[in-house]
Amino acid sequence: MKYIGVLFGMENTFPGALVERINSMRTPGVQAEFVEIGIVRMAEPCKYSVIVDRISHDIPFYRAWLKNAALDGAYIINNPFWWSADDKFFNYALATKLGVAIPRTVILPHKEHPPGTTDRSMRNMQYPLDWDAAFQYVGFPAYLKPFDGGGWRDVHKVSSREEFFKAYDQTRTLCMTLQAAVNFEEYFRCYVVGQDHVHVMPYNPRVPFHERYVQNPPAYDRALLDRVELDARTLCHALGYDLNTVQFAVEDGIPYAIDFLNPAPDADLHSVGQANFDWIVDAVAALAVKKATEEREPVRYRWDRFLSERS
Ligand SMILES: Nc1ncnc2c1ncn2[C@@H]1O[C@H](COP(=O)(O)OP(=O)(O)OP(=O)(O)O)[C@@H](O)[C@H]1O
Ligand SMILES: [Mg+2]
Repeated sequence: MKYIGVLFGMENTFPGALVERINSMRTPGVQAEFVEIGIVRMAEPCKYSVIVDRISHDIPFYRAWLKNAALDGAYIINNPFWWSADDKFFNYALATKLGVAIPRTVILPHKEHPPGTTDRSMRNMQYPLDWDAAFQYVGFPAYLKPFDGGGWRDVHKVSSREEFFKAYDQTRTLCMTLQAAVNFEEYFRCYVVGQDHVHVMPYNPRVPFHERYVQNPPAYDRALLDRVELDARTLCHALGYDLNTVQFAVEDGIPYAIDFLNPAPDADLHSVGQANFDWIVDAVAALAVKKATEEREPVRYRWDRFLSERS
């Protein structure tokens, strides 16, 4: 039997629907369930062929267990090694090189020294910092937001130098990016599953959370949607995410990718609505079953070469 395990946190609707959907497919030799683990021994074999991870970004113990599971050949959606290493600033830089439109972005030194460090830890820094050059490059209005953020935490819109410093002074030890604001007409959140399947969801971040997924969207220009889908695929291929949400803000017909580090994207029925929920449940179920059943190339990790030399 090949087991597909779902690892999740506080969310309620998606994990259960995913397990049910996979089991209702009645694929011979495949069964889905919620993951159950206790204290884990090193190099312990893992029961699961595939694990859908919705929560290890918040729980280091789960992240460590997932890496241990990878060592035993489990396919993890998403790859915990890469997810641990990734950040939004790297994403923007990579995307720029790939030809995807990105608003001008800089990364800023922490406002307060990270825990356990002092002035002496910062002797490679060029002080005073050239804030004017950064403001000139990015321009105002701009968004000040964490380089690894999620859930809209510590995101500030700033329209002047004064507003910037007021917001920056509240950022504690966070590592922040400053990004030109896109004055958007359209805004899309796109689910991308298996790096190829894109579901474009018109979204309005300017209204309260529960009304954001636009229910009766207008007809959009086909060429714009094609570019959005292509860029979403390009980004997920490059980053290797099997499940992600890529967000675009569109100004003057150009879709700017502003956040594509969402490897455990919101998939709650009550926020995304029934049609989007059905799409994501079906797509992730199909991907998990495919990964459990297909003859697949093993995922290449830096250490796997050493293991095969020993076997
Ligand atoms: N460059 C930008 N131009 C316009 N709006 C922006 C920009 N950057 C961020 N925003 C606004 O701030 C919101 C949160 O930003 P972002 O998505 O980068 O952060 P997040 O914490 O990952 O949020 P989420 O949970 O929605 O993914 C966006 O949905 C958007 O409305
Ligand atoms: Mg995000």
